[in-house]
Amino acid sequence: MCGIVGYVGYREAHPIIIESLKRLEYRGYDSCGIAALGDKLVALKDVGRVVDFEKNSPRLHGKMGIGHTRWATHGAVTAANAHPHLDCNGKFAVVHNGIIENFQKLREVLEKEGHHFNSDTDTEVIAHLIEKYYQGDLVEAVSKALADITGTYAVVVTAEGHNELIAGRRESPLVLGVGDKENFIASDVAAILDYTDRAIYLEDGDTCIVTEDTIEISNNNQKINRETHVIPWSVEDAQKAGYEHFMLKEIHEQPKTIENTLRGHTTSERPVTLFGIEKEQRLEDVTLIACGTSYHAGLIGEYMLGKLCKVPTRVKIASEFDPSCMALDRTLIIGITQSGETTDTLRAIKHAKTLGCPTIGITNVQGSSVTRIADQILYTQSGPEIGVAATKTFLAQLTALYLLALSSAPLDVKNYESYMTKLKTLPQKVQRVLDDEQTIAKHGQQLAKYENAFFVGRGISYPVAMEGALKLKEISYIHAEAYAAGEIKHGPFALLRSNTPVIAIAPKDHTYDAILTSIKEIKARGPEVIALAQEDDDEIEQFVDVVIRIPEIDPLFSPFLNTVALQLLAYYAAKERGCEIDLPVNLAKSVTVP
Ligand code: M6R
Repeated sequence: MCGIVGYVGYREAHPIIIESLKRLEYRGYDSCGIAALGDKLVALKDVGRVVDFEKNSPRLHGKMGIGHTRWATHGAVTAANAHPHLDCNGKFAVVHNGIIENFQKLREVLEKEGHHFNSDTDTEVIAHLIEKYYQGDLVEAVSKALADITGTYAVVVTAEGHNELIAGRRESPLVLGVGDKENFIASDVAAILDYTDRAIYLEDGDTCIVTEDTIEISNNNQKINRETHVIPWSVEDAQKAGYEHFMLKEIHEQPKTIENTLRGHTTSERPVTLFGIEKEQRLEDVTLIACGTSYHAGLIGEYMLGKLCKVPTRVKIASEFDPSCMALDRTLIIGITQSGETTDTLRAIKHAKTLGCPTIGITNVQGSSVTRIADQILYTQSGPEIGVAATKTFLAQLTALYLLALSSAPLDVKNYESYMTKLKTLPQKVQRVLDDEQTIAKHGQQLAKYENAFFVGRGISYPVAMEGALKLKEISYIHAEAYAAGEIKHGPFALLRSNTPVIAIAPKDHTYDAILTSIKEIKARGPEVIALAQEDDDEIEQFVDVVIRIPEIDPLFSPFLNTVALQLLAYYAAKERGCEIDLPVNLAKSVTVP
């Protein structure tokens, strides 16, 4: 995915676009560029981060411009492949997020017609198509160009001789920021929080003409009004607030995140019901669909729904979703995506919908694509998450899934309230894990010296182990694998050495004796073992090298606490290794390509 921005107004566009691009870097950061329209259209672009680009390139003049920060899909990371892309005569500049599936064919035709290409990207065809169709009417030329394209896009176009920006979207996010005597276009609201708190979320098929004081939106050649929303996030939400990294700030925001997500759902009434849908439709089972960290939340959700609701539940990695073996219209689909923009997840939800399945989306982002696709939306309340590694949104997703499971479970009032009380005490307990940060940091720094690590857990702690391994590998580049503790002896044992630490999650639940057995078997083969165990566990210490203590809790709720400890472990390992924690190599915050 990439981040795109556009500005038109009374101020110089360059600094506004640069600042907005910095806010969007989590969407891609291998190269960046900007085009501004002053006396004429000038574009600059280069490989590398926005801050270096800002330092090394001249300031462009003009009160209208566009910008882009890239996560490469078509074409290597080179200055030529960075956006904006221009037509043959440098009259039209385009920034794009998405994938143009038929670009090869379009390029061949355009080349035959005499167009000269400067990059290997799919995007450049848009600039040449606009050039081809332009006969004085920019809107018409852009509309014709977009009509030729198959695939996905959010685009912003600026052109010499025009005081308007033209933008459009199909399956890639795009939002308009409404200002006074100035307007903004961006991939998401994080980019515009400094300038306005009013946003219009564009829908698929929308194109719009934006000037400094007008916004005109059309869909299917019909003018259309879209609601202006107040953005629920503040500028401070998108700043580091004194923390060295966004990831650390976001780890520390987790007590608040849980509290906010619970807000409004903690009475004995059950406002969020999983089977509210059941009134119209007899549901037989539930399928959770997600990617990455959200998939791990889904696995814990599966455990909770099975345990409390006794409903057959499965979790599918979104890109592996194959509805051909389901009861279809009697399967409830729950899509989990913090960004609401992950293409694999959106496609799976859409597919399920076309087959008649009722759908619920769990997301953190108002106006995101999933909110337009799923029948019902359950919002998590994390505020913007900027670090590429998901942290607070994971705990918020767990909170939402626990709420769903509890509100749908056949529990009597007493039991329901007892579980809700446990949910409500989570913020304090998470805070207690955070209070132990310095101890966990020490162990994280120790972990930094290894190149490989295993994470093991059983039952509800197995997905926690998966999440711990994902966090460690994505930010510290230590190769980490998660195994169900009972499974590691069926092959992976061959890899255990004294330089392969094993992190074992060992809450005091019904799997405790079994995980102790696994730990002993592992220890006998030489690795250092770090255990996450409850404060009152006085047994485990004799079998392991390090114990990270976790506050006492009903084991069903232990994923919240264990995950926070694993996040800190990964963070301090990565910091010790000098890694760029918020923007890990090769990754982007949400993956808007299939
Ligand atoms: O926005 P989503 O929740 O749909 O994103 C899914 C994954 O791409 C995401 O969780 C990814 O795995 C994170 N980098 C994990 O930290």
